[in-house]
Amino acid sequence: MPSPLNWRQRALAAQAIAREAGLMANARFHDRSFSIKFKGRQDFVTEVDVEVEKLIERRMHEAFPEDGFVGEEGEGRAPKDGAPTWVIDPIDGTANFARGTPHYCVSIACVLGQSIEIGAIYNPSLDELFFARKGEGAELNGAAMHVSGATDLSACSIEVGWNARGGADHYLGLMRRIIETGASAARGGSGALGLAYVAAGRRDGYVETIIHPWDCLAALVMITEAGGYVSDFLSGRDLRKGGPLIAAAPGVKDALIKAAALDGVVL
Ligand code: IPD
Ligand code: CA
Repeated sequence: MPSPLNWRQRALAAQAIAREAGLMANARFHDRSFSIKFKGRQDFVTEVDVEVEKLIERRMHEAFPEDGFVGEEGEGRAPKDGAPTWVIDPIDGTANFARGTPHYCVSIACVLGQSIEIGAIYNPSLDELFFARKGEGAELNGAAMHVSGATDLSACSIEVGWNARGGADHYLGLMRRIIETGASAARGGSGALGLAYVAAGRRDGYVETIIHPWDCLAALVMITEAGGYVSDFLSGRDLRKGGPLIAAAPGVKDALIKAAALDGVVL
């Protein structure tokens, strides 16, 4: 079990490396000198995703050689003897990045067993660093972050995440149910930033029928630490497998769970 001193080092490393990686991505975003490929329909991957993931993996391995590593683009590595695992997305919002839309981020989580210990998300376009350490609160650029005090879905902004994996019926059914509550349904194209915005009180909830651990784990500890609700996403999950997710401000949690009806989603 890592000592508290090591957790402090990991928390500092997560923030510094998220920022370094985000600035590297931001330079390439502006010079536009990268190739783009597709892993599937609408599933973009750029050269920069791969380069940034390699940088993060190298930095983490130099600092914490015993730690495991799971990234969206690479093979990863298993942890040694009870050490934690870094779960990272080098660029979340890759389609935005590839299209020149400045809404993307670097997402870094550190997980021990079923517990998300650290989350760091950096949005270089706005120089915003979202951060949480389990048990110690959540912050945005060093200032405490709290979820919204919303109590009525008809005054809420709910992000409904979309990807081509779930199929049209999942998404359209979910969208209909959310809109019928009177909520404003949004989609920003970066699950990590959409969820970080729930922690910051900028959105009141987030729902997706299938999202991957690297897209959401860093933000989930932020939402919990900022006073919000997150569904039991991690329990028993392979760190490479996606699943359904709901996150919400506490005053609209029950209404959103009911409207989303993700219990019945078969993936
Ligand atoms: C995607 C984005 C999107 C979410 C998808 C993710 P990518 O990640 O976060 O908002 O809805 O589930 O796969 O492809 O931009 O890294
Ligand atoms: Ca992603």
